[in-house]
Amino acid sequence: MAQLQQPEIESEQELPDIPFNLPAVEGRELEHVQAAVRGGHLSSGGEFAHRTAEILAADTGSPEVLMTTSCTAALELSAMLMDLKEGDTVIVPSFTFTSTGLAFARQGAGLVFCDIEPVTLGLDPAHLASLLDDHVRAVVVVHYAGVACDMEGIRAVLADRPDVRLVEDNAHGLFGRWRDEPLGSLGRFATLSFHETKNFVCGEGGALVLNDPEDVDRARVLYDKGTNRHAFMLGQVDKYTWKDTGSSFGMSDVLAAYLLGQLEQREAVQAKRRHLHERYESALAPHTEELGFEVMRVPEDRRPAHHMYYVLLSHRDRRNDVLELMRKTGVQATFHYQPLHTSEAGRSFAARTTECPVSQDVSDRLLRMPFYNNLSDPDADRVVAAFLDAATATLPDR
Ligand SMILES: Cc1ncc(COP(=O)(O)O)c(C=O)c1O
Repeated sequence: MAQLQQPEIESEQELPDIPFNLPAVEGRELEHVQAAVRGGHLSSGGEFAHRTAEILAADTGSPEVLMTTSCTAALELSAMLMDLKEGDTVIVPSFTFTSTGLAFARQGAGLVFCDIEPVTLGLDPAHLASLLDDHVRAVVVVHYAGVACDMEGIRAVLADRPDVRLVEDNAHGLFGRWRDEPLGSLGRFATLSFHETKNFVCGEGGALVLNDPEDVDRARVLYDKGTNRHAFMLGQVDKYTWKDTGSSFGMSDVLAAYLLGQLEQREAVQAKRRHLHERYESALAPHTEELGFEVMRVPEDRRPAHHMYYVLLSHRDRRNDVLELMRKTGVQATFHYQPLHTSEAGRSFAARTTECPVSQDVSDRLLRMPFYNNLSDPDADRVVAAFLDAATATLPDR
């Protein structure tokens, strides 16, 4: 391992930090929040939740979108709708956030961790094929960084298993496309996140996208504490009662009001994020060979949602050294997921042991650049300079 050298960018050390993420007000969020508060409907099922759900359903063409308290909650609701039984398993990527597995483990499923493929960092169809057996009730995919995973390969593997439900954990991929198909429209269920780290935020929030009309009526009951309140509100029944299992999944209309202000600016927000991606890409790609790193890949037939921008260093120690050097210059780059199959809870919820070497390798080498809507061009250039200096200082033969 080469000796760690300090990059020579002292003048920049006086500059304010560039954070990893910085949520911003993009439009009429505060106006909408005031209207929600003044209107007096602060709980779930209000006008603003309705308007946000309409925008989301229009993008995916889905029959119903339920606004939830988080993406985790939306995943839990999808798991509840499956009526998982003892012995059932759900295949999830190892390289993802805990919620992707937790929601199904909590409903009693054994988890089977699947590896990712190295191009999109999405589920590896070949590994998926080797894991499918009669116990599998669902497969969960994540479109990492907002780049669609290999849906052609995954669909081919699942072609003769219509009993296996496909769930898209689309926490990163809102408004992305696989070929011409919207991310979030590809699974029977899709889930969204509006956590403050995402492209569109309301602090904590999410949505469950239902793509099979068969699920809609029951989902509404589970969503509303197991009651048929929704049917009552529509005048379909004269009182509402306890009908089924469920929980309190609904998003407060105050948060939905904030989120509506964000979603109204979706084209402007996505354009800013695309611009940042392109700026990083054009500044970094020419140096990959000379400095021994890879830039993130977006296959031609995908339109990314631009949730993040990452690079892969040659090995873990070097990635960690580069992060440390960048942070010393005030640039808050960071790593990402630790593979779930090696975590304490992942091992205890696993139905069986699986090998996920690509997940481990990517986890070791991945570095995420600061990425947010209003990161300015000069700041993006400062991030690039800090990275290139750190990559140079950590070149193995120096
Ligand atoms: C892939 C993925 N799924 C789910 C979640 C959880 O989202 P939330 O915080 O909205 O529950 C995250 C959070 O970052 C995530 O990255």
